[in-house]
Amino acid sequence: MARTGKVTVVGAGFYGSTTALRLAEYDIFDEVVLTDIVEGKPEGLALDMNQSRPVEGFETKVTGQTTGLAGEGYEAIAGSHIVIVTAGLPRKPGMSRMDLIGVNAKIVRSVAENVVKHAPDAVLIMVSNPLDEMTALAANVTGFPSHQVMGQAGMLDTARFSNFVAERLSVPVGSVRTLTLGSHGDTMVPVPSACTVDGKPLTDLLPAVDIEALVQRTRDGGAEIVKLLKTGSAYYAPSAAAARMARAVAEDSHAVLPVCTWMDGQYGISGVYLGVEAEIGSAGIVRVVERDLSESELASLRAAADAVRTKQADVASL
Ligand code: LAC
Repeated sequence: MARTGKVTVVGAGFYGSTTALRLAEYDIFDEVVLTDIVEGKPEGLALDMNQSRPVEGFETKVTGQTTGLAGEGYEAIAGSHIVIVTAGLPRKPGMSRMDLIGVNAKIVRSVAENVVKHAPDAVLIMVSNPLDEMTALAANVTGFPSHQVMGQAGMLDTARFSNFVAERLSVPVGSVRTLTLGSHGDTMVPVPSACTVDGKPLTDLLPAVDIEALVQRTRDGGAEIVKLLKTGSAYYAPSAAAARMARAVAEDSHAVLPVCTWMDGQYGISGVYLGVEAEIGSAGIVRVVERDLSESELASLRAAADAVRTKQADVASL
């Protein structure tokens, strides 16, 4: 199989390194670059991943590169078709994603400046938290056209929701379809009207109160894991989601995925990066896909947009 292109993952913590390994194991890229500011860490992880190639049977090469505070080492990302930014601090137990805004804004700003310099054509996939705000900040700092910047959250929240539904009904996860829109936070908007199990509406299979409990667990899904881990946050499901988005870009798949993207009038919402469904192609977002929402779902989505818009305006000055 022909392997093509280069994809970069910035940040070699658990989220970043797991994402890099998933991308490498797809065996569709020439090269996966993994960077971090911790001296030697990305190089060591890359060496380890490359040594798994004979066992797992993939040929994609992983390159590790330490980067300096003045941008040294970023030449390694040149020519990347996709850059996934995981850099930033994770939550500690009891923290909300929003508590990270000040510290992560500084980190994301510096990464975004280096991406513009060395990989100006790359599609940027943001995962640093708070997600919706860091996506807006990266778009602002890079000045990239809006289709070139997206954030990962809906894929993860939807996956969590589907997993909880499958467990609750004791059915295979493959038979469950769910959808969450809005923000990766308190104003996450579940869309029960789009949720089905083997094609049957979820609302016919579970009482509203039970669906709401699963939705609330989804909303708190990241925090539940942070509390158990005590240090660090989730990375298996988040990295699966981010890697899938990158794959859709790499393969120009035109898959419709829930992502954080720029809103330009869809659902009557404008001027904000928000979680909605979008068609993904090799240049990034092809178009936002609008579906029929119930009146209350639409009202919740608009409320989420208003909440996120205010925060995204603040973040530009951080
Ligand atoms: C979570 C983090 C990664 O939801 O945002 O687990």
